[in-house]
Amino acid sequence: MTTIDTDPDTGLDPLEFAVTRNLAAKSAAERDAILASPGFGQSFTDHMVDICWSVRGGWHRPRVSPYGPISLDPAAAVLHYGQEIFEGIKAYRHADGSVHTFRPDQNGRRLQRSARRLALPELPVPYFLQSLKELIAVDGAWVPSGEDQSLYLRPFMFAKEAFLGVRPAHKVAYYLIASPAGAYFKGGVQPVSIWLSEDYSRAGKGGTGAAKTGGNYAASLLPQSEAYENECDQVVFLDQDRNVEELGGMNVVFVYKDGTIVTPQSDSILEGITRDSLLQLARDRGHHVEGRNVSLTEWREGVASGDIVEVFACGTAAVVTPIGTLKGRDFIDEQPSGTLALELREELTNIQYGRAEDKHGWLYRLDA
Ligand code: PLP
Ligand code: COI
Repeated sequence: MTTIDTDPDTGLDPLEFAVTRNLAAKSAAERDAILASPGFGQSFTDHMVDICWSVRGGWHRPRVSPYGPISLDPAAAVLHYGQEIFEGIKAYRHADGSVHTFRPDQNGRRLQRSARRLALPELPVPYFLQSLKELIAVDGAWVPSGEDQSLYLRPFMFAKEAFLGVRPAHKVAYYLIASPAGAYFKGGVQPVSIWLSEDYSRAGKGGTGAAKTGGNYAASLLPQSEAYENECDQVVFLDQDRNVEELGGMNVVFVYKDGTIVTPQSDSILEGITRDSLLQLARDRGHHVEGRNVSLTEWREGVASGDIVEVFACGTAAVVTPIGTLKGRDFIDEQPSGTLALELREELTNIQYGRAEDKHGWLYRLDA
């Protein structure tokens, strides 16, 4: 059990996690072999965290247990109606061996916003933070130390009540698993090619686009397959007015030749924490930043005229990735290449890995 004090803001006492050690945990040699080349989302650590919630009992039975299959009733509501949300956040190993994460309060709050939209209970942020620390307390050795490597943390919550009526479930589970991660894209930080989804949308007005819920990703898989068929790495979605929304798993940012930085903002887009942080770093450098609608026409004409000088995508898993090409059914637009995306990426990762001063107080230590 890690030591955490009563939360000064909420007055909540820390949970008492029951810890069951994994007797079949990987040996140090097995773990090191995985950490040498982790890929993304393929291997998992030895333990997981879960906390139950019920209408009558609230949050209860916090546990750290051996990583393994979850037993669910076949009637569990999540399997039928998709009442589920998740988060993505990373743990970074610093040169002195300590383990830190980045703006976890933001992920905790976004999990609460997603919960509200999906009619799930809101996990108090102090419990969210504690869950991260509890997992690192047992699986800290899984945080890799190689360049650009991290431990990807995947908190998620779902409706587990066995009931086929359509209403918010009365029994819910929160889980946290972790997976060592290297580069998200096979090519590392190479410009990616983007397929413009014309036939499918990801979200609609008043829909669940701003929530991090499995259904949004399910809806993106067919257009993402279309992207692969068209030899593109990722898909970009438009809204009903042909404004740019985001990629399947990343936000989009445009850099204009006068230094202005513009990113699509609407209630159907996930509010990315990487994007918010990069935009703050850009403001610190004196860039003017705007969150507003960007139509497909503005994008294409801006690139053609030279007004837009750089386009990049960003998110926790892939960090920052320049966009190299935008491909539609009847056009291919090469995107201009600039240096700002990679400079901001470097600045951000220097903070995350403890190589630069954390001026905004974004780091949160997980192993103490
Ligand atoms: N948009 C979508 C659809 C995502 O899945 C993600 C990844 O989490 C992002 C944007 C970027 O969000 P963040 O920077 O918080 O990871
Ligand atoms: C993330 O960047 O954390 C994501 O969730 C994107 C993707 C892996 C779903």
